[in-house]
Amino acid sequence: MDANVRIVEVGPRDGLQNEKTPISTSAKLAFIESLAKSGLKEIEATSFVSPKWVPQLGDAAELWAQLPSGPEYSALVPNVKGLQRALQCGVDRISFFTAASEAFTQKNINMTIEESLVAFEQILDEFREVKPNGHVRAYLSTAFECPYAGRIEPEQTLSVARRLVNLGADEVSVSDTIGVAVPTEVSHLTKLLLEHLPKNKIAYHFHDTRGTALANLAKAFELGVTTFDSSAAGLGGCPYAPGAGGNLATEDLVYFFERSGVPTGVNLPELAQASLPILELLGRRPTAKAQLAVFSEQRNCP
Ligand code: HMG
Ligand code: MG
Repeated sequence: MDANVRIVEVGPRDGLQNEKTPISTSAKLAFIESLAKSGLKEIEATSFVSPKWVPQLGDAAELWAQLPSGPEYSALVPNVKGLQRALQCGVDRISFFTAASEAFTQKNINMTIEESLVAFEQILDEFREVKPNGHVRAYLSTAFECPYAGRIEPEQTLSVARRLVNLGADEVSVSDTIGVAVPTEVSHLTKLLLEHLPKNKIAYHFHDTRGTALANLAKAFELGVTTFDSSAAGLGGCPYAPGAGGNLATEDLVYFFERSGVPTGVNLPELAQASLPILELLGRRPTAKAQLAVFSEQRNCP
């Protein structure tokens, strides 16, 4: 295959936001440092969300101040208050989130889709004033199905994606929040999106609840999408999306691309090690397939 791929590692944010066991700032920093050493170049490090909603990420400012140099870091900002906290820390890559489902925006951010787009516009204006060259990503959750409202029509997902791009998002991360999609649905939605939006504006964020994330990624990649989110060890979930499993494991993604002849710049054995201390703190064993395969080849099963 002759293509470049961009990986956005979301383990420190999506991977940890749903975990009840408190993880110290120093353990998060050690995790991020190992991810960076393995070769990951873009890492979503945290979320400037209210600690009342997501206590695990209440240390966003403290963490941001100590991030190791190397990768490009981004942070999730849910509202203007989050943006202001992020700007105080010097964040220049932000991610906003809305959804294709009304029911989900209500549960997740306490807004209608329309209200969330107004909030996005306000966030963009304030952000661009301070960081004219900053990067803005918008997550579009429940792009295929909502845990409260059921299936989402591809035209509905397209319509919110177009609004986000027209408002000024540099990219839209089309998210299968509860991990239900299969390749035929990804194919249909991707073709529709690419009829209306440039391909460099589209990323995919597949949760792997039912084991279809890698097949979905392969389909989207075949159709020309080259930016994918994933999480080391497949950590992840959303506190406001019942049934959301972990993200596509970065190890599986890296194995898939490297074996397909598409360089990722990531050292898989180093990546396989990177999440072990966090998994131990969470009382979990590794489950990502390509990660386990590395350990089995090394005869070193933790
Ligand atoms: P709200 O309760 O409507 O907001 O929440 P509020 O303005 O009434 O604020 C309530 C309290 O929180 C106030 O404090 C605010 O000051 C404070 P009090 O007056 O009670 O002391 N507050 C904040 N503090 C610090 N930082 C902030 C902040 N905002 C308010 N940023 C809000 C509205 C959007 C904030 C809320 O709904 C929220 O935070 N929701 C969090 C949702 C979330 O984090 N979800 C997970 C991330 S999204 C995701 O995982 C999906 C994704 O992975 C893609 C996919 O898989 O689909 C991206
Ligand atoms: Mg997610």
